Amino acid sequence: MRLLITGGAGFIGSNLAELAVASGHDVVVLDDLSTGYLDNLGAYVEFVEGSILDKDRLASMVRGVDSIVHLAALGSVPRSIANPGATHAVNTNGTFAVLEAARSVGAHVVFSSSSSVYGMNPALPKHEREWV
Ligand SMILES: NC(=O)c1ccc[n+]([C@@H]2O[C@H](COP(=O)([O-])OP(=O)(O)OC[C@H]3O[C@@H](n4cnc5c(N)ncnc54)[C@H](O)[C@@H]3O)[C@@H](O)[C@H]2O)c1
Repeated sequence: MRLLITGGAGFIGSNLAELAVASGHDVVVLDDLSTGYLDNLGAYVEFVEGSILDKDRLASMVRGVDSIVHLAALGSVPRSIANPGATHAVNTNGTFAVLEAARSVGAHVVFSSSSSVYGMNPALPKHEREWV
């Protein structure tokens, strides 16, 4: 399978890339290195530096891709409060752009949300039917 991992130079994406390559998949990473590190990725992974907000780049990268694991995001609730526009642009508009790109080629998408959606609720374990 050919996989596109957005945010693949980050914590989860780089570990996933390593596992996917070891499992025989063909992996390409798109990451703008805003919080991720190229050093997280081995030389065995194809890497493109760029943003999910660049629709032309996304359109060219989804060609021939079977599945997209969408992990590009700006984390941190305090960051989102200090600069909501930047967080909204990447996490909301960026996710929409990834979904549209996937739709254009019929690729499957795996998305990782965040426990931040549950707010300050201290209950554990968290589950999807829980309200804030
Ligand atoms: N780490 C966790 O424990 C955890 C748990 C649950 C969910 N998640 C979610 O999984 C996702 C990834 O988490 P992580 O811990 O790997 O985060 P991370 O910050 O390590 O990785 C995110 C990557 O996205 C990249 N990025 C940011 N904006 C981008 C853009 N516009 N275009 C391309 N790349 C961009 C960053 O450079 C970084 O490499 C996030 O959505 C996070 O909320 C993380």
